[in-house]
Amino acid sequence: MAQLEAQELAQAVIGRMADCREPRFQQVMSALVKHAHAFAREVQLAPDEWMAAIEFLTATGKMCDEKRQEFILLSDTLGISMLVVAIEQARVAAALRDKTDAGRPTEATVRGPFYRDGAPELELGADIGQGHAGEPAYYHGRVTDTAGKPIANCALDVWSSDGEGFYDLQQGADPAMALRARLRTDQDGNYRFWSIKPSCYPVPDDGPVGGMLHRMGRHPNRPGHMHMLLNAPGHERLVTHIFVSDSPYLDSDAVFGVRDSLVVDFDQHPAGPAPDGRILDKPFYTARYDFKLVPAAA
Ligand code: BEZ
Ligand code: FE
Repeated sequence: MAQLEAQELAQAVIGRMADCREPRFQQVMSALVKHAHAFAREVQLAPDEWMAAIEFLTATGKMCDEKRQEFILLSDTLGISMLVVAIEQARVAAALRDKTDAGRPTEATVRGPFYRDGAPELELGADIGQGHAGEPAYYHGRVTDTAGKPIANCALDVWSSDGEGFYDLQQGADPAMALRARLRTDQDGNYRFWSIKPSCYPVPDDGPVGGMLHRMGRHPNRPGHMHMLLNAPGHERLVTHIFVSDSPYLDSDAVFGVRDSLVVDFDQHPAGPAPDGRILDKPFYTARYDFKLVPAAA
C-alpha cells in the first residue's frame, strides 16, 4: 500500500467518495474535508488541541435538549448562521434582479433558539406585553410584496425577551408561552400589536459556547430586538428582527445579526392616547416597520 504524505490525505479522503451517488453531498463533503485539512495544516494542529476540540463539541452536544440548542448558538456566535442567511438572500436577490418591478425585499437575519411553534393566534392590536417587565411599545406597519402590493392574511409570528432580557423558554422547567403571538395582516396588509420595547441581553453563556466566547475575549450580548417570522402563501418565508436604534451592542452583536435596514427608531410618547385610540397611563413607544416579501417563484 502506498504511504500517504500529510498533504495528500485530504485528496485521498475525497477520492474515496468516487462512488457517492448524491452530487451535492459529495460536493459539500469534499469541500469540508479539503478546508478542514488545510486548517489543521495551517495551524499545525497538535493532538491535545484536537482532543480539546472533540471534548468541546461533545460538551456542546450534551448541552442540547428540546429547550437548549448549543450547536445553533455555536453556529450563531461563529457567524456561520448569518453567513448562510446572507448566501440565501443573495440567491433570492439574483433571482429577482431581472424583474423590473421588484423593490428590495426585507433583509433576513438569524432565527435564534427561542422560536416556539404554536404561539397563540391573537387579534390585530393585541397586547402581548401586559404583565411583563418592560416599557409598552406599539408595533405597526404593512406587509407588501416587492412590487408594493399589500399581502393580506400574512401570518406574523412575533417573539421577544422581556424587559430584563429573558425569554419565556428560560423561565423554569415547563414555562408558559409569553411575549409571543401569531397575528395575521388585514385586507390592506397592515399589522399592529402591543408588546414591550426589547432590551439588550446576553445569549446563554453558561455552557461551552459561553466559555469559548470568554476565552476569545468577546462579550455575549445582543442589541434589543423583536423577532418576526412572516409566512404568506405564494411568498418566500422571511425570518428577521427589528432592532432598537438606541440599543447598546448594535455594533457588536454577539451573533452578527444586525442589518442597517432593520434598525428602527422607537419614538417615545408621554402618557395619553396611542395611535390605536388606547389611553395609556404611562409613557410608551411606537415603532413602525414595513416588510417586503419575495414572490415564491424567485
Ligand atoms: C436570539 O435573538 O434570540 C438569539 C439568537 C442567536 C443566539 C441566541 C439568541
Ligand atoms: Fe432574540
